[in-house]
Amino acid sequence: MTISIIGTGFVGVVSAAVFASFGHTVYGIDIDEKKIRMLQKAQPPFYEPNLAELLRETQQSNQLHFTTDYSVAIPQSEICIIAVGTPSGKDGSVDLTYVDAALTSLAEYLVPNQIIAIKSTVPPHAVDHVKSKLSELTKTPCYVATIPEFLREGSAVYDTLHPSRIVIGADQPEVFAKLEQLHKPLAAPVIKINPASAQMSKYAANAYLATRIMFANQLADLCETNGADVQEVLTAIGYDPRIGSHYWYPGLGYGGSCFPKDVRELAHYSRSVGAKHNLFNKIQDLNEERLSQLLASYSKWVGGWDGKTVAVLGLAFKPNTDDVREAPSTHIVPELLRQGARVYGYDPEASLLKFNIVPTEHFQQYREFESLAAAVQDADILLALIEWPIITSFDFGSVRKAGSKQWFIDARNQFDPKQVQDWGFLYRGVGRGRIDQ
Ligand code: UGA
Repeated sequence: MTISIIGTGFVGVVSAAVFASFGHTVYGIDIDEKKIRMLQKAQPPFYEPNLAELLRETQQSNQLHFTTDYSVAIPQSEICIIAVGTPSGKDGSVDLTYVDAALTSLAEYLVPNQIIAIKSTVPPHAVDHVKSKLSELTKTPCYVATIPEFLREGSAVYDTLHPSRIVIGADQPEVFAKLEQLHKPLAAPVIKINPASAQMSKYAANAYLATRIMFANQLADLCETNGADVQEVLTAIGYDPRIGSHYWYPGLGYGGSCFPKDVRELAHYSRSVGAKHNLFNKIQDLNEERLSQLLASYSKWVGGWDGKTVAVLGLAFKPNTDDVREAPSTHIVPELLRQGARVYGYDPEASLLKFNIVPTEHFQQYREFESLAAAVQDADILLALIEWPIITSFDFGSVRKAGSKQWFIDARNQFDPKQVQDWGFLYRGVGRGRIDQ
């Protein structure tokens, strides 16, 4: 089958490479010529494990093509997948400008009965918007369907090859059949539902996981008032199969390009249909407040940041990615600098300097290091933000400064408190016993 994927962002590129690896002929389309030239050389515009190899293999076997030319790709494609960005405002309102632009560009090349499948995350009513936009743009009959994405950054290729389910939102049996055929080699249950349900299921999945994380975070805060250890509490409740022990560690709140955005959008959508007081508003507010609250509490613990050197370990929003969107580092580093600390950043892939996140007036106080050992060697405070394996498996005992007081903040409970204390650091996790302040 020949398909087009419009939008070569994270989801578009990974999906294009994986669908091509199934033997489909795939055109990845974007208006950004520079990005397309990189992709034609099998260079992903972001770091994602195993992606460069897959891009190389599928282009060598002639299954995958990247182009800016809609006129070549669209007429041959049985399915046109929309995977463009859908930015949203701080209030959660979704901007469909790029979806509209993609529809406008493809409309003149459509041939009858093609499927336009929306993979971008859009509110449920956006399906009607797409249908009416297409009817303004073309008289060529086509189908509109939704195929939401559930992959995670950092394991995107693996997740796309081993999905827990494939969700197809459509109204006609022939559309379900064609979209099922697209995913044919995958051994996952196929959930066939209506297009709005499919879009709602995308928001619901992310909002549920975000709620679960926030639940663990709130429990952790309570544990700090009574001496309980949240890890022990989570282990104890995890034996209930209705709860489970997966996806369940507390920290500084969720980040990245998906959870904060999707929860905000679901909250906005709820308000727009009259549910002024809704769970999603609250979850997102709690998440946004969390970083500042914890930072204030850590500041008390270390006796203020002013004049201290802080090694911030992990700048990306999670391991195995260079994505810093809504990463804790993007809030914490500028704040520490403002409060007079010197900050040494370390991440195996991500950098804050590339994205103008470090305020220019504080450039002198900030450095990024290529080696973890170099980043921590002069630090008074070690702030382990992200669970990159290279960080969690590091022997911090080897860099302990003998004779001086050093604090170790384990922002995701990835370390054994006793081990860190044995290395000679003062240890602080999240929700791991009473904090007397
Ligand atoms: C998330 C979902 O997990 C994917 O299923 C979904 O397809 C994707 O959003 C999307 O909408 O495109 P992702 O943002 O890549 O994927 O990352 P996650 O691994 O889910 O982590 C999200 C955030 O939650 C990170 O900041 C992570 O550190 C945090 N988190 C995760 C916790 O704080 N605690 C946990 O137990 C798990």
